[in-house]
Amino acid sequence: MSNIYQFPDDFIWGSATAAYQIEGSPLADGAGPSIWQRFAHTPGRMLNDDNGDIACDHYNRWREDIGLMKELGLQAYRFSISWSRILPEGKGRVNQKGVDFYERLVDTLLENGIEPVATLFHWDLPAALDDQGGWLNRDIADWFAEYGRIMFERLDGRIKRWATLNEPWVVTDGGYLHGALAPGHRNRFEAPIASHNLMRAHGAAVKAYREVGKHEIGLVVNIEPKYPASDSAEDLAATRRAEAYMNRQYLDPAFFGTYPEELREIFGEAWPEWPQDDMDLIRQPLDFIGVNYYTRNVARHDESNWPLKVSPVRQKQHTYTETGWEVFPQGLTDTLVWVKERYGNPKVFITENGAAFFDPPKSENGRVRDPLRLSYLRQHLRAVHNAIEAGCDIGGYFVWSLLDNLEWSLGYSKRFGIVHVDFETQTRTPKDSARYYAKVVASHGTALTNEDD
Ligand code: BGC
Repeated sequence: MSNIYQFPDDFIWGSATAAYQIEGSPLADGAGPSIWQRFAHTPGRMLNDDNGDIACDHYNRWREDIGLMKELGLQAYRFSISWSRILPEGKGRVNQKGVDFYERLVDTLLENGIEPVATLFHWDLPAALDDQGGWLNRDIADWFAEYGRIMFERLDGRIKRWATLNEPWVVTDGGYLHGALAPGHRNRFEAPIASHNLMRAHGAAVKAYREVGKHEIGLVVNIEPKYPASDSAEDLAATRRAEAYMNRQYLDPAFFGTYPEELREIFGEAWPEWPQDDMDLIRQPLDFIGVNYYTRNVARHDESNWPLKVSPVRQKQHTYTETGWEVFPQGLTDTLVWVKERYGNPKVFITENGAAFFDPPKSENGRVRDPLRLSYLRQHLRAVHNAIEAGCDIGGYFVWSLLDNLEWSLGYSKRFGIVHVDFETQTRTPKDSARYYAKVVASHGTALTNEDD
């Protein structure tokens, strides 16, 4: 691979966040509660009893945060819309004040030359819909399309890139199979149903978009490439299972209208037969795929690990982040090349990539040194470039995250931001990694060439 870093002219550089992780004021101005509001206020669910009541107070400080993006020269901002701010009951009555919040945000982004990229669902399902079964209720495809349509009608003139769902795999694995995330269920029979309804909802929203929207819509998935721990038949089969479960479970139906065979083996009697009409609904032409990449997995067969029978093998010589994820930039190139080869080279945006490393809780003389995150970004941006050289159609990159924020059930214990947040004072301080990223963006990637910047 060449070490001259030239990115396509229209490649965009941005950062990403999600509503419940940064906004705070979850019930302000008529918003309804989400399942995360409930989960975070249930004792024992969140590390240190943290919750999103204040978070980064972005609901009040959004103007300052746009100012920060502008100062860093970012060209695009991926944020998510909180469904229950728009529809407090999840459907029916629209809460105009909730719509106003996102309209103001989008208008101010545009005034500052920053392209807004909106995700409709980043995990904060309206609690009122959860009361009716949430992702287990087939009607949710219509509820989601109704919500999508409202947003498209109001904002498609200003938002040119939409994503339906963020990481359906995490929603079902964390929310319905293992219970570590809202709504906190642990049920092998529910997980395939929730997954399937997420994808039906995705399909229904894309269909609604084609009726009212004029720009681009896609799906955001998290992909973790799987490598076998050995050549044994057992480890190879384990690797295929892990890959089917996490990486193909959502993209195969979206692109091919079928589910990977391995899912039947993993879920056994809990894997239903799905009607063909459902598969047709799920398979809608997409304008792009959003790929969230953090790490890889080396997979080993392990009978004790329910229900997948796969465990990751720790790579002793490698660096791990604070969330226990191996730093493996080559995995990002491999992932992008895999998407290109398996799915016919769709347009891809890296919609999330970043790392939690230990940062001091306070900045020191206005500076936060984060050499590990800086190096993580540099290596992964180079990995993106390698994928472009290998022929992948990559439209842009969004660092996760703009701000330190609520890392779901891990609370504020893990810092992913390129901008440090002092949660006592809400002071924002761009870390060294933010300064570095700003340089990369300003040079349209050529700063990656310099070994020691
Ligand atoms: C999610 C983010 C999360 C990040 C780090 C992704 O799974 O989309 O909301 O904070 O990873 O865990």
